[in-house]
Amino acid sequence: MEPKEQVEALENKAMEDLNDVNDQDALMNFRNTYLAKKSELSALMGKMKDIPAELRGAFGKIVNDTRAKIEAAFNAKKEAIERKAMELKLKAEEIDLTLPGRTHQAGAVNPCWVIVDEMMDIFAGMGFDIVEGRDVETDHFNFELLNVPKDHPARDMQDTFYIDDSLLLRTQTSAAQAHYMLSKGGKEPIKMICPGKCFRRDDDDATHSHQFGQIEGLVVDKNISLADLKGTLELFVKKMFGEKREIRLRSSFFPFTEPSVEVDVSCAKCGGKGCNICKGTGWIEILGAGEVHPNVLRMCGYDPEVYSGFAFGVGIERLAMLRYGIDDIRRIYANDIRFLKDFSEK
Ligand code: PHE
Repeated sequence: MEPKEQVEALENKAMEDLNDVNDQDALMNFRNTYLAKKSELSALMGKMKDIPAELRGAFGKIVNDTRAKIEAAFNAKKEAIERKAMELKLKAEEIDLTLPGRTHQAGAVNPCWVIVDEMMDIFAGMGFDIVEGRDVETDHFNFELLNVPKDHPARDMQDTFYIDDSLLLRTQTSAAQAHYMLSKGGKEPIKMICPGKCFRRDDDDATHSHQFGQIEGLVVDKNISLADLKGTLELFVKKMFGEKREIRLRSSFFPFTEPSVEVDVSCAKCGGKGCNICKGTGWIEILGAGEVHPNVLRMCGYDPEVYSGFAFGVGIERLAMLRYGIDDIRRIYANDIRFLKDFSEK
């Protein structure tokens, strides 16, 4: 075949092939075959030397025109394929503006946090510092410095999650008392509350949980008496549960307080007459408290001849359950938005 006929044949074949090109891959193959440096067209240019010198110019023009034609056809095809791809993409991503929007459920504050926030407000208002304790404690701070030596039977009541012989998950926020007293060097007066988590091996039922929240309170100064404890807690209870609430102290025992008391609040439902909520007594127990034991003061750097103090520890879930009439402690942990909304809106 003459070179000129070869060029024509190539053009026909290229146009035929281009008809079958329908996607990006085929486009690339086509370009490599017909338009790239090593394409058949370029190879034909290499035949120039076999052509008589006077015909070379004409032949070169034919090759270049053919390349231009193939290139133009290729570009048109490429544009068509890309347009088609874009149309498909737009169709696939079409948004129906008439559909209703998706709503996001907003969270709600857990009733325990409502209680903690309020307690912090009430006690900050009385001049208390808010202190942060630690979840992992040493036996020394959780027990020994609170007048609970190794063999003390009171340890049984707080059968505990130990990490090793001397490290444990705090069983009571009272551990923060010792840290705070030691940090004050035995001289400065103290007024603090410390909210935090506690852990005890316990049944998990409607009123117990192996993990729960407590708020510790501690006051140390000269001439602090049980009357100060009573006055402080009375004010707290009235602010938290209402002006009409009264408190009463019953004697009790804690190794780190002497004397020790349980504090009851008068029943909000029956006003003290007796009902199913207060089990007929008119009173509901809310916390443990007492005058700081001289041994604790001494071990934590305060001279019990000069200083005295009171401490209390209150269960956060218990306060929330009382205030909101929650019947099962497990509801507080279930994180059910319907439940949470119910209480945070109150
Ligand atoms: N730590 C005690 C408990 O968890 C409560 C308490 C705190 C009692 C402070 C007296 C003083 O049961």
